[in-house]
Amino acid sequence: MSRCIFILASGTGSLAEAIISASQKGDLSAQVIAVLTDQPEAGIVSKCATLDIPIISHPMHDDRAEWNEELFQITESLNPTLVVSAGFMRILDANYVTTFKVINSHPSLLPMFPGAHAVRDALISKVTQTGTTIHWVDAGVDTGEIIVAREVPILEDDTEEVLHERIKIVERGLIVATISELLDTLEFSHE
Ligand code: GRF
Repeated sequence: MSRCIFILASGTGSLAEAIISASQKGDLSAQVIAVLTDQPEAGIVSKCATLDIPIISHPMHDDRAEWNEELFQITESLNPTLVVSAGFMRILDANYVTTFKVINSHPSLLPMFPGAHAVRDALISKVTQTGTTIHWVDAGVDTGEIIVAREVPILEDDTEEVLHERIKIVERGLIVATISELLDTLEFSHE
């Protein structure tokens, strides 16, 4: 199969798992070549073991430029068709996002509530709905071109955790569907 996805993830990895499962079931016609995490203790690590997907541990170190370069080289060696940031909590540098095709799933309706606390910020601001956005990644914080977004209503008793879980249910379906559509339009570079 010539369509290869490389996933970046920092957390529990439920989005990554949705992508991997869709691929393994044949619902997504692409192979997940590996997952990279900057958090060696994160839930995504054991998920990859269970799902039999290679996990690359790349924890942050003192030299950020060197870390960026290592990430670049790892990605280049894998030659993915698409890089998917699925809960990856690091900003990717300009060279990375202009060299590789990178998308990100974010838990708000961008451009509202960019950054690491999007769900909390939406709750604090008292809006009645938030949602999820999938966008191309540029060198800014959740500023890249929007591909697709879906609304999720905020309910009266929502806590950050409860609301985030409801958003993530939508995110999982949307990321799989969006990857599938994008792969049909992207020029394949992986042999
Ligand atoms: C998602 O809501 C994603 O948008 C955000 O982090 C969450 C990742 O969840 N950046 P999980 O680790 O895939 O469960």
